Amino acid sequence: MREYIEEQINEKIESLGYGKVNVIYSGRKDLCDFQCNDAFRLAKIYHKAPNLIGEEIINLIKDFDIFSKVEFVNPGFINIKVSDKLINKFIREMNDNPKFNLKKPDKIETFVIDYGGYNVAKPLHIGHLRPTIIGESIKRIISYKGHKTIGDVHLGDYGLQMGQVIYGIKRDNLKIEDITIDYLNKIYPEISALCKEDEKVREECVLITKMIQDGDKYYNELLDRIIEISVSDAKKTTDYLGITFDLWHGERDSYPYLEKCEKMLRDKNLLTLSEGALVVNVKKEEDNKPMPPMMFKKSNGAYVYDSTDLATIYERYINYNPNHIIYITDFRQNLHFEQVFRVSDMVGLIPYECLEHAYNGTINGKDGKAFKTRKGDAPKLSELFDLVKDTFISLKEENKNMNKEDIDKIVNAIIKFADLQNSRDKDYIFDIEKFSQVVGKTGPYILYTYLRIQKILKDNSIENNLNDIIYNEKDRNLRMKLLEFETSFDSAFKERKPNYIAEYVYNVAILANNFYENNHIMGLEDLDKKNSWLYILNLTNKILKDMLYLLEIEIPSFM
Ligand code: ARG
Repeated sequence: MREYIEEQINEKIESLGYGKVNVIYSGRKDLCDFQCNDAFRLAKIYHKAPNLIGEEIINLIKDFDIFSKVEFVNPGFINIKVSDKLINKFIREMNDNPKFNLKKPDKIETFVIDYGGYNVAKPLHIGHLRPTIIGESIKRIISYKGHKTIGDVHLGDYGLQMGQVIYGIKRDNLKIEDITIDYLNKIYPEISALCKEDEKVREECVLITKMIQDGDKYYNELLDRIIEISVSDAKKTTDYLGITFDLWHGERDSYPYLEKCEKMLRDKNLLTLSEGALVVNVKKEEDNKPMPPMMFKKSNGAYVYDSTDLATIYERYINYNPNHIIYITDFRQNLHFEQVFRVSDMVGLIPYECLEHAYNGTINGKDGKAFKTRKGDAPKLSELFDLVKDTFISLKEENKNMNKEDIDKIVNAIIKFADLQNSRDKDYIFDIEKFSQVVGKTGPYILYTYLRIQKILKDNSIENNLNDIIYNEKDRNLRMKLLEFETSFDSAFKERKPNYIAEYVYNVAILANNFYENNHIMGLEDLDKKNSWLYILNLTNKILKDMLYLLEIEIPSFM
């Protein structure tokens, strides 16, 4: 709508010879819908008073039937209120077109989304929650826009931790068929601690790690089994969250490409020997923060996290030829990705500007510090889900009687809406009681709004027609908000930030609540009015449903 208005105005005022003006959303919705503040700018260029220029523009556009009011406000603003007819023209277009008439991309591109990043042999804990749900939402947003997406979990299955787990299995004389998830979860921290005390154990673990990388058959069989067990355990969590990855690849899958990367680096003369290790200098003159070289191969010949990430870019380049790769991890990996992206660019794989680290902040407890259990450690995700479930159930007697699937959907909504409403790069405080309420900026509030509207729609038959009248302010506000859909969606898409969608959904829910509380539809005798209102509520819920899908929130049957 904004673009349309801008085009219409510019066409009308071309004869004035001032060039094009900009139309922006109003910051004062109580006064007008849109504003044009260019009279100031033009006044300077043409040495004329802003109000004269304003008058000239207004004279040409004031009789336009797309506006209900156009006025000049001192010292240089043009305030625009749009007509009911224009609002409804756009509402109809949203209703009648797929995806609410969202503009399709000029060119369909392929995006690899690298998120989750679970580590084999370690249970999923609260630190994995944000990369998982933010990544999934970004993936859904990009594919809603019309692009092709490939979601890859990129398992941590390749470093010293693997050597440590296998060391434990050998020490305990465990047979391959006797390995269990509980054993894995116990053995990793145990050996990892042992390595800190005992240099001999550490050396042995380093050796095993190197042998895995060199293709030792038995160790790789063990590793296959360890990965299998860990993946099936992780899938319990992703199933609960309703999240699916297209690929369950890991660091190990990049192995066949490590030597190819080494050759490319060598051919371009980019490898430097540093204390026996092979590194790549990535520092640029314009860098104003420290930029150490990227480690490619350790002095004992082992590859590291940096190298497997570079080789994974190679793997993806060969297999999927993506236009973009987006990585979602917490901000502490900024430097790592910066180094890898630079090397990818230098070596001629995927260009720097097509690689993005869409990083996240941390989830904090009410004390402002990283969220902890009562015992003082980072909660496992399964523990966190139980905690949220118990809190929600304890809030109200009725909640106890809800069926299991509905409760699980609400637990998901509580967690995801609490998270996705925050800009992903910021930390936030996860106050379970607050986010479990059915009022305020919470998942349950949005779901409740949706279900109430659904009930109104079910109890009344709708004829899919919209007359051109808008009956009151509440009605108008809701329609105007619905029309902001594309702007909010596109910000989320461009910035890889689902919080724009969460914000939009929340504002729509407030206005929708306000609308049906003040405009009683039940028993209304004016059928035109009734149909028109049902039409708007129907569109509202269609939008809410799609946007909740982008936020990974499923709708319960009853609340
Ligand atoms: N497993 C890693 C970690 O726990 C995250 C992996 C992120 N993705 C990547 N391509 N490096 O820190």
